[in-house]
Amino acid sequence: MKVLLTGAKGQLGNCFQDRLPAGWQVWATDADVLDITDLEKVKAAVAEFQPDAIVNAAAYTAVDKAEQDRELAALINVVGPKNLALAAKEAGARLVHVSTDYVFDGKASVAYSETDATNPLGVYGQTKLDGEIAVAEVLPASLIVRTAWVFSEYGNNFVKTMLRLAKDRDSLGIVADQRGCPTYAGDIAQAIIDLLQQNAEGGVYHFCGDKEVSWSDFAKSIFTHAHQLQLLSKVPQVTEITTADYPTPAERPQYSTLSCRKINAAGIASSAWEEGLHKVLIDIKNNQ
Ligand SMILES: NC(=O)c1ccc[n+]([C@@H]2O[C@H](COP(=O)([O-])OP(=O)(O)OC[C@H]3O[C@@H](n4cnc5c(N)ncnc54)[C@H](OP(=O)(O)O)[C@@H]3O)[C@@H](O)[C@H]2O)c1
Repeated sequence: MKVLLTGAKGQLGNCFQDRLPAGWQVWATDADVLDITDLEKVKAAVAEFQPDAIVNAAAYTAVDKAEQDRELAALINVVGPKNLALAAKEAGARLVHVSTDYVFDGKASVAYSETDATNPLGVYGQTKLDGEIAVAEVLPASLIVRTAWVFSEYGNNFVKTMLRLAKDRDSLGIVADQRGCPTYAGDIAQAIIDLLQQNAEGGVYHFCGDKEVSWSDFAKSIFTHAHQLQLLSKVPQVTEITTADYPTPAERPQYSTLSCRKINAAGIASSAWEEGLHKVLIDIKNNQ
């Protein structure tokens, strides 16, 4: 299988390269090599490489910054994926596009299924939803994988932020009234590989962690594992605060657990995120 990977320097992009099955050939690109917002360059790259699949791990992911940066967020999250869909269609390649739990408004009380109504609360979520729609319109056979609360050994994420803060502080106030499922980027990469290997039917698939938590529960889990691995000398006290206590420019869904029933039925297990967390912390420790 020949795969053109975009956003290769991000969390998912890096994890995807780490898990490439034997015999697969990947052209790993990021914005410096292939800017997905440039249709002519995208078409030329696809015509040259002739991939069987394009995996789009590129995105504008700065949720709060997007509120002030609507045009750039839309360019990267809507125009970019649409360009990839146009090029994939021309070349007869599959497209795997990645989206987010932030397409939902978080007012549900049971896990969201792929067919539930979307209603993004902020610019990031809206651009990601518009990207999904653009991709599905151009190439309905595309695989759209919605995921949530992504962490990994690469880039910046909640795990790394918590470790940094824990080194300087004895107590931390963490939001306890937003619930969702942490997801290890390595598991998303594997799920994408599995979907491609089984030539899964096009459409939206939810994929996230196997255990729902609040941000404060997630932080406590990070501190416990990090302390066990002697990555932290002490476990800071976690005080549960509310969203109102910690205002951010972008409103986030209060509840964004994704039901993984559809992808599980295809034989792909949800992300065992606590195992993923353990692996990530070991990697961080080894690279200190
Ligand atoms: N992170 C999360 O918590 C989360 C949650 C739910 C869903 N998701 C989705 O999961 C996917 C992967 O997220 P991630 O956390 O791996 O993202 P990430 O670490 O922010 O990586 C995104 C990559 O895309 C690159 N990029 C930006 N603009 C580009 C362009 N015009 N052309 C090509 N590459 C470009 C970025 O480069 P620069 O760094 O140079 O800009 C970066 O390397 C995204 O679709 C995201 O929306 C993420």
